[in-house]
Amino acid sequence: MKRALLAVLAAAALVVVGIAGGGAVLYARADTSNLGTLEFENELEILPLLASREEHGRLVFDLELRTGRSELVPGKQAETWGANGSYLGPTLRVEHGDRIEVRVRNELPEQTTIHWHGMHLPAVADGGPHQAIGPGETWRPGWQIDQPAATLWYHPHPHGETADHVYRGIAGMFIVDDPRADALPLPDTYGVDDIPLIIQDKRLNDDGSLDLSERIISPTGRLGDTILVNGTYDPYLRVQHERIRLRLLNASDARVYNVGFVDGREFDLIATDGGLLETPEPLSRIQLSPGERAEIVAAFDEGEEVVLRSFEPDLGTNFLEGRFAGGDDRFDLLQIHAAPILAPSPEVPARLSEHEYLREEDAVRTRRFELDGTSIDGKDLDVGRIDEVVEVDSTEIWEVHNASGTPHSFHPHGVSFRVLEDGEGLPAELSGWKDTVYVPPGETVRLVLRSPDRLDPTVPFMYHCHVLQHEDRGMMGQFVVVEPGDADHAPVRN
Ligand code: C2O
Ligand code: CU
Ligand code: CU
Repeated sequence: MKRALLAVLAAAALVVVGIAGGGAVLYARADTSNLGTLEFENELEILPLLASREEHGRLVFDLELRTGRSELVPGKQAETWGANGSYLGPTLRVEHGDRIEVRVRNELPEQTTIHWHGMHLPAVADGGPHQAIGPGETWRPGWQIDQPAATLWYHPHPHGETADHVYRGIAGMFIVDDPRADALPLPDTYGVDDIPLIIQDKRLNDDGSLDLSERIISPTGRLGDTILVNGTYDPYLRVQHERIRLRLLNASDARVYNVGFVDGREFDLIATDGGLLETPEPLSRIQLSPGERAEIVAAFDEGEEVVLRSFEPDLGTNFLEGRFAGGDDRFDLLQIHAAPILAPSPEVPARLSEHEYLREEDAVRTRRFELDGTSIDGKDLDVGRIDEVVEVDSTEIWEVHNASGTPHSFHPHGVSFRVLEDGEGLPAELSGWKDTVYVPPGETVRLVLRSPDRLDPTVPFMYHCHVLQHEDRGMMGQFVVVEPGDADHAPVRN
């Protein structure tokens, strides 16, 4: 009897030691870095600008989604997906006021969608889960560009498969220009002094193929240890101008980057998700969670080489969650080589835009969203349920609370918002127009937004966490835009 009890206790002790020891090994292995492993040997790919043609007063763009093979690391082949190519897609560039149509042909083996992240457009053109494109089909959304100059992007959004489709390689930039921004002396020659940087982390198998399995212990889903910028591994960029604008896009599943130069030099933050700031903000780091963008202008000396790095991000988590969420990770992203003689660039203008302020006191309504687990307000996405009914073109406050210990973010479709300050002032990266915002564990972020100005009581827009695995698991809700006065009799579909 006594011996049996002792044996049980001994076994239990062994289990405890085993778990703790295993945990320590996992903890020790959970940070990731590529520092010291890169040679900066490959010239950064610049995704081409997509040409358009005019048809009946509309600019028509063609995107074809395809499967293909890519050398994600040199000398090894991977099966990948892309738009008009085998990995990523071309950059679309349009001007405020343009009427456009994009013909998206799906040559993939499965159904997908293409969503225009950050675009203000009618819900039917948005490309969320409700605008499925079957294999062999072409989807032809059209809309008029009606928002200020900004760096937007596009990516698939089929429910439950978004992470997979983006990870396989479908994503691209969508640049909006406007006459005011065009008149500013900012670097704007695409691929020359205005450089798109699509930052992604991947996990590759030894043969160079994409590892599509899911890591078991990560609160955020897939975190990779191989960095690709514009699909280029180990990249360098040669520049010929004193000042370069970098359009940074975090197109990763889950990883948060904290981008700066290794020598700590300052750069000017000139724009966030939804467009130009009022004034440039000098910074030495800019943090981006998945889906977020920032435009920075950096100055270089003739003949120098400097590395752009992602430093440990501040996730606002406890140390354990943070470590498993990538909070201790550092990555070199890109080496910049300045030519021995640089063409002069004008100074960054002191004033970039005039902002229309959304005033908290104009809000007609406050909504609250609680992020927890992989649900919002305790619910998983139901594509047949409308969660919120919003009156057309009205000002609202959306309060988003992260009730969990893990990182989440919040992204509503069809609108841009401003983050409201909580009495401590706003950091520069939250001071302008946004469409995606990181919500640290335990915190509440208050947003003020103007709802879409186009009515559609039947087709919903989505709002969700932009950690793609969370979104796929249902961390997403739907809102429709109705006539003033109709918000209280909520139309609930099927
Ligand atoms: Cu990039 Cu629903 O979003
Ligand atoms: Cu979006
Ligand atoms: Cu999340």
